[in-house]
Amino acid sequence: MTSVGVLASGRGSNCEALVTAAQAGRLQARVALVLSDREDAPVLATARRLGVEGRFLDPGRPGARLTPEAERAYVDALREAGVEWVALAGFMRIVGGILLESFPDRIVNIHPSLLPAFPGLHAQKQALDYGVRVAGCTVHLVNAGVDAGPIVGQRAVSVEPGDTEDTLAARILAEEHTLYVESLNLLIAGRTRRDGRRVVLLEE
Ligand code: GRF
Repeated sequence: MTSVGVLASGRGSNCEALVTAAQAGRLQARVALVLSDREDAPVLATARRLGVEGRFLDPGRPGARLTPEAERAYVDALREAGVEWVALAGFMRIVGGILLESFPDRIVNIHPSLLPAFPGLHAQKQALDYGVRVAGCTVHLVNAGVDAGPIVGQRAVSVEPGDTEDTLAARILAEEHTLYVESLNLLIAGRTRRDGRRVVLLEE
């Protein structure tokens, strides 16, 4: 059984969706470990409640990136847990070269916009402020950029009149939870091939 490690910094609803899907047999993997750069992140309690090891790992410094020493500690923890795929789920750090080289094309992220539109923070607010009629979410392979890697899957969500950042974010989030499971299943099953920056879906 393939092992997935989750990196998360906050609430943890995507992490919960992955763990419950794995436990229900809808995700063809087990979530072996949840790591957080924040000691007080609710995702750690969620993981433990679901019977998954949830561990705070010191990021080494505040800000956008882990220190190189911290990245090595993350790699070691993931390797010790037998992790083959790493799923970022609201991990508020830019992944650096040590993690990327340790899990080449095996780190995925979920982002609450239809990339390449609205990368970075507050993507749902960016979409609303811009006035788009269609928002959504994206699962992509992680590269050295921010929300910039090859796209694995996307789901569109209509913007309704009267939507606020919160109402739009909630409808996108519901789609995130199923898109993440679906996209990881494709990757884990080997049903994708990388062609430059395109992730090509193979026939079943
Ligand atoms: C999600 O909207 C995800 O797309 C983004 O951060 C948020 C994390 O939410 N990367 P949660 O912690 O999974 O509930």
